[in-house]
Amino acid sequence: MNSKIRNLINKKNKKKIVCLTAYSKNMGALIDEFCDLVLVGDSMANVLYGMKNTHSINIKTISNHAKAVRLGVKKSLLVIDMPKGSYSEPNKAKKNAKNIIRKTGCDAVKIENNSSNLNIVKALTKVGVNVMGHIGFTPQFKKKFKVEGKTLKQQSKLINQAKKIEQAGAFSIVLECISKKTSKEITKKVRIPTIGIGSSEECDGQILVTEDILGLSGFYPKFVKKYLNLDKLIKKAVKKFSNDVKSKKFPSKKNCF
Ligand code: KIV
Repeated sequence: MNSKIRNLINKKNKKKIVCLTAYSKNMGALIDEFCDLVLVGDSMANVLYGMKNTHSINIKTISNHAKAVRLGVKKSLLVIDMPKGSYSEPNKAKKNAKNIIRKTGCDAVKIENNSSNLNIVKALTKVGVNVMGHIGFTPQFKKKFKVEGKTLKQQSKLINQAKKIEQAGAFSIVLECISKKTSKEITKKVRIPTIGIGSSEECDGQILVTEDILGLSGFYPKFVKKYLNLDKLIKKAVKKFSNDVKSKKFPSKKNCF
């Protein structure tokens, strides 16, 4: 286990864990100082490529982005999402995960968990791949958005799933859109950190998509807090540039050789 992962686990019950996504070197470099973990998420499919879901992003595309992010992220633990279909059976998962890590220099992979892929977590951790789990609303497997863990039956299913993921060797689990009560129970019952997205302050840490908090994605569900309207700032700057070019204010003497 690398020291960044040990440090992350040691934060449980002591300090809140800060996580964000990045898809480029520049964004990685900007957020690194303030994060414990940076995720090269398959959310890039929607956020960057305008796809309708995360299903079509492939290993080559996400790896190219991760290589770029690696150049900017020095301090934080760098995790890459395994794309849908790339970990459908143990041998495929091992081959793809090892290649992704070797090519990108990421510290760990994240996989979305369903009721039948615990064997994948086991297979990966057994060969030394650091794995982050992901339960609750898992966009690779679920079509319709729904908050999970609202009933006692759902709660006990999710607690069980989280415990099994921990036993399989994962170092952390993302809890996506899970009710506050159930997130609290899961967080109490596992020794590895839970990282929430839409799953309340009861989790050990929080993750959001960076473009969402900056006001760049156009997607702001209830669980997102927008810290900036970067879309408006960009439009203002671009409008000014456009006016300068048209009025011949740009380039000026100082921009020319
Ligand atoms: O792809 C992603 O960005 C994620 C999140 C947990 C935000 O999986």
